[in-house]
Parts: sequence; structure tokens; C-alpha cells
Amino acid sequence: MNDTVRIFDTTLRDGEQAPGYAMDLDEKVRMALQLEALGVDVMEAGFAVASPGDFASVKAIADAVRSSSVCSLARAVEKDIDASAEAIASAARPLIHVFLATSDLHLKYKLRISRDECLEAIRRAVAHARNRCPEVEFSAEDATRTDVDFLCKAYETAIAAGATIVNVTDTVGYATTEEYGALVSSLMARVKGIDRVIVSTHCHDDLGLAVANSLAGVRAGARQVECTVCGIGERAGNAALEEVVMGLATRADAYGGLMTNIRTPEIARSAHLLSTITGIRIPPGKAIVGTNAFAHESGIHQQGVLSKAETYEIMAPESVGMKKTELILGKHSGQHALENRLRDLGYDLDSAQASEVFEAFKALADRKKRITDRDIVALAESRVASHGADGKGWKLDSFVVNSGNHMSATAQIKLVKDGKFAQEAAIGSGPIYAAFQAIEKIIRHRFILEDYRIEAVTEQRDALGEVLVKISDADGKGTYRGRGVSTDIIEGSILALLVAVNRMLAAAARREASGGVV
Ligand code: KIV
Ligand code: ZN
Repeated sequence: MNDTVRIFDTTLRDGEQAPGYAMDLDEKVRMALQLEALGVDVMEAGFAVASPGDFASVKAIADAVRSSSVCSLARAVEKDIDASAEAIASAARPLIHVFLATSDLHLKYKLRISRDECLEAIRRAVAHARNRCPEVEFSAEDATRTDVDFLCKAYETAIAAGATIVNVTDTVGYATTEEYGALVSSLMARVKGIDRVIVSTHCHDDLGLAVANSLAGVRAGARQVECTVCGIGERAGNAALEEVVMGLATRADAYGGLMTNIRTPEIARSAHLLSTITGIRIPPGKAIVGTNAFAHESGIHQQGVLSKAETYEIMAPESVGMKKTELILGKHSGQHALENRLRDLGYDLDSAQASEVFEAFKALADRKKRITDRDIVALAESRVASHGADGKGWKLDSFVVNSGNHMSATAQIKLVKDGKFAQEAAIGSGPIYAAFQAIEKIIRHRFILEDYRIEAVTEQRDALGEVLVKISDADGKGTYRGRGVSTDIIEGSILALLVAVNRMLAAAARREASGGVV
């Protein structure tokens, strides 16, 4: 049996379905190119038939990516398969992913079809997809809650119709690890023709078992794992790519020395890019890529790691692109040193972005003595996101706020866009509210503040405050997140709001350009 496990990344499809993770076309292409650099075998670029916007992003990714297969999801109907085939026509390695539910629950209450009708739909859809594309994956949706005899028939039908990959989905994250491994083993033994195709896992994390179940599937003979960067995805998410890959690499002894084609030093960069694009912070305790994943706080651990890293580290941080050395930069450090540090931390910025981060770094160095890696990551993420991937949008020029316990707060804000300045003042019940009112007047587009949070990036008194805001367009056309970082929480709040506002305005402009279709 093949000793390589294919990594099928679905960050841009299942991952993007998670609330708050929506990306626009440019952001998806940027992420896709990073996934290609990471070495994923397949990337699911989207669901081409879902909307003109989805079709355009799948097509743009198919045009841009050369070394990974590019896949589009399709229901088991001709219209979806044709849209997928068209969207991925320019891909170097196109793949159509056809899915149909097979559990009685879904057949009866969702699809309202019989088992026989289900088998016929699989046969027709897979055969049609295979006529249009050399590689076709069939997913039995809700496989883990499907009667096993019927599931075997469903896969046999798909294989006979030309499927090259069959996917065993745990759609609602219901299976225990033992059950999932046993199911894959039993399919490997019973399904006719299964030796001619690749068996894939697709596990959701509703019970926190997605990675464990995927690895159990691999042990049982699966040679493709469907996963996402940081495990993002529907509800509780999918199996986390970095955990599956490093599980296989670190415990080769337990998983029979199976390999993946992933360039593991690109893992941290991929996670950071996802966080930068979506404005959603990586939880500090996230395995492999969280800021605490290689931090040793207790004296005993620090001493152990200094004398022999393996005492408390089961993998080298460098092997996944994380640097553990906290090189302290200060106000005398130059742009070159900062850029090197940013590269080590996984940020490959263009010169305009690097200069912008450097400016923010210098301003911070005037206010804060010790600048750590966590400060630099926070600055990089907020500054890169602050004016969008295309560098356009409103930027903060200056602000003045007044507030006190016996007065209304006032804010005067000056913003700049395309070299033109605009200024407004507003009153509010607090300084941040007043600042947000003034910004709303400048941009002339109403929004609703859905969520607002402040967190300290580091522990010292002069810590950076990280502000996270979520707004929705007052027309109800979408929600947008922003993150801002400063030692001044009002400045951090304004920066965070501007990220979100620029995303909202860019989405509104795209809608207008497409006549309201996107
Ligand atoms: O979870 C699931 O079943 C899916 C399918 C569309 C593959 O995402
Ligand atoms: Zn899924």
C-alpha cells in the first residue's frame, strides 16, 4: 500500500463556510498560493455553482495554481458538475468533488428519495463528472450514520461509475475514534474495487475528535485526509491540517512511517496568513501554531529545554516555521532587523507593508521598552490588514478625543484615502463611541457594531492592547471583522474599526460593480 498520505485542504470551501471566515476573491487567491507553497496535494477552492462570486474565485485559483490539484465541490446534479468543470477548466490538475447524502436520516428528511434513487443519482452524477474531468471524488455525506451495507453499495456504485477517490465523511462529528477506524477498515475489506481508488477521510470536530478520527482512518488504510488550516470549518470545524501532518511526522513510529508532501516549515506562515486575511486571531494555546505552543513558562521546563530541547519539546519549532527565540528588538533596531524577524515569524511582506509595520514598530518602541515577538506579530497582523490586500481604503491620519466623568465624550478624527483628507467631529457616551460616530460620518456608510473586545497582547503595564471589532453593514449585507493594535486603546479601536470598515466598503463596491449579483 502507498506510504504517502495526500493532504486535501478545504480551507477555502468547508473552512470558508464557518461564520466570520468569508474571504473575497483576492484573499482566496492569496491563500491558495500559500497553500500551494505549503505543498497541499489538493485544494478545494470552493463550490462553483453556489454564486457568481464563488465561480469567479474557483476559476481565479484554477488559473493561478500549478502544482496542487484544484477542486470544486458539486452536488450530484448536472448543473453543479458543469459549473465545476467550467470553473476548473484551466487547472493543471482539475478535480471534481461530487457529494450526496446516504444516511436514511438525510434521504428521508432532506432529500426525500429512496435508497435506490440515491444509488441511481450517484451513478449518473459520477459518470457525468468523469466525462468532464479525469479525477473525480465521491463523498457519501453523513457516511458515519449510514447503514454500512448500503454505504458499501454507494461506494461500489461510485467506483463503477468512474470515481477515483471515495470520501468517508463524518459530517456531524458523531463517530468515536474506534468506530471511525473500524468503519474505514470494514469498507477497505468489503467494497468491491476499493483497491483501485484512494480512500479519504473528512472528519468534523463537534466532539473534538476530528484529528484523532482522521488518523484512525489513515491507520485503517485511508490515504487522503481532508482538513483545513487551524481546523476552521462548519460549526466546530474540520480536522486541523497542521495537527494531522505533524501527528504523522512526529509519531512515524505509531503511524507506520507514512509521509505527506507538506513542507512543514510553511505551516506557521499559512496559519498567520489565514489569521491576517480573516482578522481572526489564532488562539494562543492552539496546537502547533499558537503563540504558546512552544513557550515554556515554568522554571523547571525552561531549564530542561535549555539543557536538552527534547525534554519538553516533541518537535522543533523551526520544523513548523515557528521561532522560539524571543529576540528582543528595541528603538535602535533598524528596518532590516525587523524585516528579518518578520520573515522568521512567517511574514513575507512587500516593501510598502514592511515600511508600514516599521513605522508602527518605531512608534511602539518610543512607548514600550521591550518589544517581543508577540508584539511584532500583533503589529504585523493589524497593519497588513488595516488597509486591505490591495492597499486601498481609509487610513487614520490623526485623532483627538476628550472625555471625563462629568462630560460627554467628543472625538475629532482625520482620515485619508487616495491622498485626500476628511475630518469630522462627534459626541458620544464614551470616547470610543464618539470616535466611531465621527468615522461613520466620514465614510458616509452606516454600520452596526456587533462585537467589540480588547485584549492585552503581553503582560507588562506598557502592553499593546489588541482591539477586535465586528460590524455589520446597516443594509444587512454582511459582517466584517477588524483588528487593531496600539498601546493606546482608542487608537487601537480606530485602527480595528477602519479594517472592518474598509472590508465593508470593498464588499459594497464589489456588489455595486456586479449589479448586486455577488
Ligand atoms: O462534511 C461534509 O460531509 C462535507 C461534504 C460536502 C464532503 O463537507
Ligand atoms: Zn465537511
